[in-house]
Amino acid sequence: MLNVVRAAVLLILVQSINSTDPNDLFNRKYYSSSVLGLVKLLKMEQAFMENFSMYANILQEKVDNLNIFLDALKRPNHITHNEREKFVSNPLNAFGLIRRLNQDWPKLQNYTQKPLGLVQLTAMQDIVSAAPESFDMNEKLKAMHRIETTYDLQPKDIAKGLLQSTEFIYKLSFRDCLSLAHHKFEIGEFKRSLLWFREALKLNADGSLEIMNILQEIELKGFATAVAKRVSIYLSNQALTNETIDNMVNTQLQDAKQMDLEQLISSELKQWINDDSTTPPTGHNLGCQGLFPKKSNLVCRYNSSTNAFLQLAPLKMEEVSRDPYIVMFHEVVSDKEIEEMKGEITEMENGKESSFSKRINQRISDMTGFKLEEFPAIQSANFGVGGYFKPHYDYYTDRLKEVDVNNTLGDRIGSIIFYAGEVSQGGQTVFPDSKVMVEPKKGNALLWFNAFIHRQIHEPCTPCVQL
Ligand SMILES: *[C@@H]1O[C@H](CO)[C@@H](O)[C@H](O)[C@H]1NC(C)=O
Ligand SMILES: *[C@@H]1O[C@H](CO)[C@@H](O)[C@H](O)[C@H]1NC(C)=O
Ligand SMILES: *[C@@H]1O[C@H](CO)[C@@H](O)[C@H](O)[C@H]1NC(C)=O
Ligand SMILES: *[C@@H]1O[C@H](CO)[C@@H](O)[C@H](O)[C@H]1NC(C)=O
Ligand SMILES: *[C@@H]1O[C@H](CO)[C@@H](O)[C@H](O)[C@H]1NC(C)=O
Repeated sequence: MLNVVRAAVLLILVQSINSTDPNDLFNRKYYSSSVLGLVKLLKMEQAFMENFSMYANILQEKVDNLNIFLDALKRPNHITHNEREKFVSNPLNAFGLIRRLNQDWPKLQNYTQKPLGLVQLTAMQDIVSAAPESFDMNEKLKAMHRIETTYDLQPKDIAKGLLQSTEFIYKLSFRDCLSLAHHKFEIGEFKRSLLWFREALKLNADGSLEIMNILQEIELKGFATAVAKRVSIYLSNQALTNETIDNMVNTQLQDAKQMDLEQLISSELKQWINDDSTTPPTGHNLGCQGLFPKKSNLVCRYNSSTNAFLQLAPLKMEEVSRDPYIVMFHEVVSDKEIEEMKGEITEMENGKESSFSKRINQRISDMTGFKLEEFPAIQSANFGVGGYFKPHYDYYTDRLKEVDVNNTLGDRIGSIIFYAGEVSQGGQTVFPDSKVMVEPKKGNALLWFNAFIHRQIHEPCTPCVQL
């Protein structure tokens, strides 16, 4: 057996990194890929809301002032010339009229012109200019799609906050659902698009039609027309030409009310749902959904045979699979070490040696009994909620290639994943070909060998919910 292992080490962080550096580890420009970036956005939204609310209060105060003035001027309507003449003949009325026109009205008119809430408007502008761009938006739409398809979740469940078997108090809004409907349409998932559209319509659109039109990214009527066309193409309904659809939608949606849209979507869905065209789930998705058959005859034991260290502190070793050989070591890194590592990572450019990586290399030697050639880089990844790592054969990712430009690290006979955080839902590591699924557990390490059997394709499930 080779006595030098070039092991790829991946630390999976599934929690935020304790650091003041708001930049994401992999992508410094964007918010979407790290919990830290998202926390920053939450603070931004808070600041926006405070300013927005102050601005609304300032405007409200102005409206209140104007109303006080209008109330003070309440008097009977003088309709006829005689009535008016009688009114101004009274010296008190004549005085008041002249005085108001000379003194009050110019000031009031001036008051109406006075710009208000400039400080808040500027603050809001600043915040908006730092808001996430379409890259982040698209990443989150993709992440939502991944969660939906990986775990085979239904839009009606997601919308009301039900993820797998856990119901959350957080729910999606009308515009959240509509945005998802639009995304599904863009990527050609028309049935899902309709399902999301229906969820959107079940929720009360917030605000009047006017405000909806201002805020709507998606023009509802145009979207409904596009969806209807798609349905007819899909069902190869020759009777429904584009022209008839345009007419139909135009008629149905003239002065469209929400109810009309609901009816349209419902009737389209009825046709579509009867058509069972869903693609079968992939091996990866089955694994993430926990649908792989249970392996039998696996053992869990304390392994103290490999070296002197283990004789003192045996590691709990759980066989996950025999062929290929995959084992989970329990509690091999402590919480304290994980915290230390998180602190170090933000300072450590990927590829730089750290004292932590030295220690981890030693730990791997202890675990495996192999003498490790010093591994210069520990790769760390925070997948983020709904994040994703492409299915791959080992950890020789592009990121590592950058570090290992001369390919001195060579091929790996083994790979180890250390789990450095908890995920409450999702985030498993799946070996689709071998039908093996492994749950992440903080402090554990997963080890498998690539070269002895065949290289194992493996793929982490998207973290569905992070603690
Ligand atoms: C308004 O926005 C500014 C700039 O982002 C922020 O510093 C401030 O805390 C916000 N809130 C209030 C109440 O002004
Ligand atoms: C209108 O208001 C501005 C300041 O807001 C003031 O400088 C100007 O004199 C005012 N004009 C009148 C006619 O009151
Ligand atoms: C009907 O509309 C769809 C969607 O906009 C388009 O792809 C298709 O080419 C149109 N068909 C005709 C005959 O114009
Ligand atoms: C202990 O672990 C090593 C490395 O995984 C393995 O080669 C050895 O067979 C294990 N010993 C026992 C008793 O399981
Ligand atoms: C890669 O090889 C070149 C030429 O031998 C050398 O100059 C360079 O330092 C090497 N880079 C690394 C990261 O080992």
